[in-house]
Amino acid sequence: MRILSIETSCDETGAAVVERKDGEQFMRVLSNVTATSVTLHVKTGGIIPEFAAREQIKAIIPVIIQSLLESEKIEYGSDENNFKKANQILKEKIDAIAVTHGPGLIGSLLVGVETAKTLSFAFDKPIIPVHHLLAHLFANFIFNTEYSILNTEKIFPFIGLIVSGGHTDLLLFKSVSKFKWLGGTRDDAAGEALDKIGRLLGLPYPAGPIIEQRAKLYFNSLSPRGRGRGEEERSNIKFQSPLVNSDDFDFSFSGLKTEISRFINKKHLTERLINEICYALQESIFAVLIKKTIRAAKLYKINQIALGGGVSANQTLRQQFELEIGNLKLEIALSVPPKEFSTDNAAMIGAHALLNHKPVDWDKITAEPDLYFD
Ligand code: KG4
Ligand code: ZN
Repeated sequence: MRILSIETSCDETGAAVVERKDGEQFMRVLSNVTATSVTLHVKTGGIIPEFAAREQIKAIIPVIIQSLLESEKIEYGSDENNFKKANQILKEKIDAIAVTHGPGLIGSLLVGVETAKTLSFAFDKPIIPVHHLLAHLFANFIFNTEYSILNTEKIFPFIGLIVSGGHTDLLLFKSVSKFKWLGGTRDDAAGEALDKIGRLLGLPYPAGPIIEQRAKLYFNSLSPRGRGRGEEERSNIKFQSPLVNSDDFDFSFSGLKTEISRFINKKHLTERLINEICYALQESIFAVLIKKTIRAAKLYKINQIALGGGVSANQTLRQQFELEIGNLKLEIALSVPPKEFSTDNAAMIGAHALLNHKPVDWDKITAEPDLYFD
């Protein structure tokens, strides 16, 4: 089974070709192409849905053509030749088309969904709708772009934490298609909080990766004695970890923006102070993510945790999870997607479609911006 997968839920336009041969325990990512309108959104300081959708329209066909050519290791030639070759590959080598149908921005989603429907109709290929957030967790099945192990028995059941720009959700996954939603954010998602607070601090969009670098700079600037100290002594700045002790699996990050905005009010923001705020901010958000995820694993007696979504690209979050699991002497294995598959990409859409092969008629699929976990 070879799938062309398409992802256009936000500001990334992705197309990938993934494959799983009959009887094989391996999933291969033959190509994974992502175009992003992030440089445009750095200028606007955040995503403008209308701009994102327009950029999607411009990028979608070139990205699909590139992913088809790369899947067959075909060099780029003239536009006409590329188009012809891509057509031929789609016709002869692709068994199905998978596409993100939600959740996401309506304009962006429509570009991917309508393109996928058109290709499905024109080339007579089955079409598989994919839930963007579930696919973030399925990125854990991609271990390497050349050769990836699809060892589902080893991974299920697991507690899945989705931490992206638009969502923070905790799920208990029992098998490939059976899961239970345990809780989620009541307001801003973790990534959204990082991006909004980053803006307050004058950092460019998306702020998550920059906050990670700045927090590291602060930590590395401490003396070895300072670093070795307990967490509480590393910085005098402390922000709340909202709902950290509530006995549900909910999250809330919007209050942090108000708290930090009050904290920086009239202060002269030196580079060092910004770095220290980034450090304290990460600590406060990560503490609650880690505590609640581990609590869910303990409550449901699950010994695997899988992370997914853009914020899971954060190395400090990964390390702190490992550290806490070690400190609590728990036998829990942590699975995190390779960094390139943590943020939005089409390979994860293909991974989900390969494992949940549920094609629908091309005229039955619609873009669902508010798609939930039903
Ligand atoms: O999953 P994603 O690519 O898109 C959505 O589905 O939302 O996530 C984007 C989010 C942004 O908020 C971005 O700031 C955050 O992921 N992000 C990070 C890192 N890389 C991306 N946050 C913290 N550390 C990172 N290294
Ligand atoms: Zn995403």
